[in-house]
Amino acid sequence: MRCLHAVVVRISARLFALWNQDFTETDTTINEPRETTRTRTRYDRAARLYDAMYWPAERLLIHRLRHRLWSRVPSGKILEIGVGTGENINYYPVSSDVTALDLSPHMLARARSRAVPEDARLEMQTGDVQQLDFPDDAFDSAVATFVFCSVPDPGQGLREVARVVRPGGRIFLLEHVRVDIPIIGMMMDIADPVAVRVTGAHVNRRTACLTRRLGIGRVMEERRGPFGMIQAIEIGVE
Ligand SMILES: C[S@@+](CC[C@H](N)C(=O)[O-])C[C@H]1O[C@@H](n2cnc3c(N)ncnc32)[C@H](O)[C@@H]1O
Repeated sequence: MRCLHAVVVRISARLFALWNQDFTETDTTINEPRETTRTRTRYDRAARLYDAMYWPAERLLIHRLRHRLWSRVPSGKILEIGVGTGENINYYPVSSDVTALDLSPHMLARARSRAVPEDARLEMQTGDVQQLDFPDDAFDSAVATFVFCSVPDPGQGLREVARVVRPGGRIFLLEHVRVDIPIIGMMMDIADPVAVRVTGAHVNRRTACLTRRLGIGRVMEERRGPFGMIQAIEIGVE
């Protein structure tokens, strides 16, 4: 089993390298960890096809989860992390003041082409959640949907988000995570090295557990979607 797993990982890594060979990396920061550069490159490469690839899941399930999440986000100064191609932009609360960032300039370029709700103010920028360029307590809330599965050091990223959200503010996450059913969880563990090389995202993270361990605030979570593989997490920053 281990041998087959190793072969599958090597073949996919080779295919990935071939697919990637004529792709130019963008905006690499000096001294940036290699895994962060890789993540950016994967999303830069995926940007063109991203919306088409996720359209079925978006229509079947995810748009409802986005709607539920954003109905809980109060208007005010909001940080959206990993805005991607901008799927959340339509849900921004009335009269909100949103700063949206993403590691990948190519994903961000897609987001920039979306219409912004008339009464919302939106500023977009490239940035890395593991190293945020904002002062402490700068935002009332932060939102990230399907982002921490691909952040190389999610603990560092979550600590940074908690730093820039004021005490009493809230962090809202939607994440696909490791399923608790043992046989499916095990399959996700086996598939993870391939998934991360092909899509840039881990499929077996335990994001709510991680946020609890970090002790950044009060954590509430709900499981949604098939086998409960999507977690809606709300953190009250203390
Ligand atoms: C799966 S996509 C989700 C996009 C969008 N939030 C959505 O719900 O459709 C993950 C996004 O997170 C971004 N991302 C990954 N690592 C990041 C980091 N360290 N800092 C900021 N953004 C990051 C990727 O570039 C990508 O656009």
